[in-house]
Amino acid sequence: SKDANGLDVVILKDPRGFSAQVHLYGGQVTSWKNDRGEELLFVSSKAVFKPPKAIRGGIPICFPQFSNLGSIEQHGFARNKLWSIDPNPLPLPTNIDDKAFIDLILKVGDEDMAKMWSYSFEFRLRVTLGPHGELGMTARVRNIDSKPFTFTTAFHTYFSVSDISEVRIEGLETLDYLDNLQNRERFTEQGDALTFETEVDKIYLNTPTKIAIIDHELKRTFVLKKDGLPDAVVWNPWERKAKAMVDFGDDEYKYMICVEPAAIEKPITLKPGEEWKGRQKISTVYSSYHSGQ
Ligand code: BG6
Repeated sequence: SKDANGLDVVILKDPRGFSAQVHLYGGQVTSWKNDRGEELLFVSSKAVFKPPKAIRGGIPICFPQFSNLGSIEQHGFARNKLWSIDPNPLPLPTNIDDKAFIDLILKVGDEDMAKMWSYSFEFRLRVTLGPHGELGMTARVRNIDSKPFTFTTAFHTYFSVSDISEVRIEGLETLDYLDNLQNRERFTEQGDALTFETEVDKIYLNTPTKIAIIDHELKRTFVLKKDGLPDAVVWNPWERKAKAMVDFGDDEYKYMICVEPAAIEKPITLKPGEEWKGRQKISTVYSSYHSGQ
């Protein structure tokens, strides 16, 4: 089907009422709702749904370059290319009961893309809604070129939160990180779980496979599990940067936090014929007294 701006979207639904929406533009998840119809991902009210601008929110895919760490445009080109439905997806393993899923593919072929990164690759993305409404994303990058290539990547996940002052992140304390706000210098996180009082833009290195994003106000925890993506970026632009972004509301920094499973510090190199795989799965847990039962 189409969104309000005429862009193609695929909607996944599960019997309990969870749903997800994926834009073919960017191969980007742009909505994930729970069984109460509440939106779990942040999408800016100022987001521009018009190529070549990347959609501000949901889960953009950074590929083949995270940030401006190389010669390609910021966060790579995958987020502003039109992906296709994969005509040859891998069969689902029989032990998986993710019944609602979609397989997308991005291939080289576009002249524009070749100019920036002249390798032949196939990027396959599977988006699933699991048996408890969990959102799964599996990325598979295959080198179909005759020479090796190297990339960095991230699932740039924008979580929706009640208020940034109510948010705590567990799983990253005591880790080393590169601070994007201080020339990517390396520091070690001190003390407790992370809370937010100012702009943050950090690349946590070699993180555990599980990170919790706790929203005290909503008594909701996002449990993020990841595989093949050792790093995790945490980003909130705060007030000044929010005002500087045209596709982001001045106050919206209060209602979002990006936690982005990534492979950045150690770029991935694939030889001809090789494939890399990375996954994230996000689920929600509510404290019992939130449910109103
Ligand atoms: C984050 C980066 O992942 O994305 C930040 O760490 C960057 O440095 C942010 O500002 C948003 O990037 P963009 O290109 O979507 O405005």
